[in-house]
Amino acid sequence: MAKKINIEELNIPEHVAIIMDGNGRWAKKRLLPRTAGHAQGARVAEQICDDAWDLGIKYLTIYAFSTENWKRSEEEVGMLMNLLRKYMISSLEKCAKNNVRVRVIGDKTKLAADLQESIANLEEKTKENTGLNFTIAINYGGRDEIVRAVKKLAAKVKDGELEIDNIDEDAFNSFLDTNELPYPDLMIRTSGELRSSNFLPWQIAYSEFYFTDVLWPDFDKKELEKAVEYYNKRDRRFGGTK
Ligand code: FPP
Repeated sequence: MAKKINIEELNIPEHVAIIMDGNGRWAKKRLLPRTAGHAQGARVAEQICDDAWDLGIKYLTIYAFSTENWKRSEEEVGMLMNLLRKYMISSLEKCAKNNVRVRVIGDKTKLAADLQESIANLEEKTKENTGLNFTIAINYGGRDEIVRAVKKLAAKVKDGELEIDNIDEDAFNSFLDTNELPYPDLMIRTSGELRSSNFLPWQIAYSEFYFTDVLWPDFDKKELEKAVEYYNKRDRRFGGTK
């Protein structure tokens, strides 16, 4: 018989980051177009917000569209953008009801104007919410984020607003898109791939990694609990000793 997890006794990670991989394979297995996998993946992402909050997770960050994903077919990119477009509008009511604060990270300037507007609107309307901090990475690449941060930092130095001697890790972090978020405690990647794929490279320096073969559209609360249970078995030393 499978061991029952007593979630109440577990140490819950404050911030969980997820690479939602395997939508295409999930669809292929069912002889469906890849876009059907993304549609199911989006439903799962919304459900996982509720599940994460139920478990006591305060910050959830998902990788929805990378700076490299533009290389996919026009149809797939268009469909993903439409899913995100739909989410920014349809989730307004649910976020208000569930007290969810939404943030979007990534280079938003390259997104369609209407999507940028609905993102800004959702961020603004949810900014006082004190429940789950839900962050969606769109047109996000970790290296790109670092380069954009360096440019902002260099401009401050050039304008005499920042001394080179005052640049430390905290100062640098304040220029990243994630500056309002704690670093992730746990990073989950579904579908059996063992890579971090340019997702939050600065921020996950000390995160625990949990990899599962489950495809993202099949991921559910039980799988999230397994990841949290795994996290509890890790001994986080942050470079020190115990
Ligand atoms: C990776 O699977 C998944 C993506 C590139 C897209 C993830 C986006 C979503 C689930 C939509 C999120 C939307 C909302 C509303 C929050 P893949 O296509 O690379 O899968 P494969 O490796 O099996 O081909």
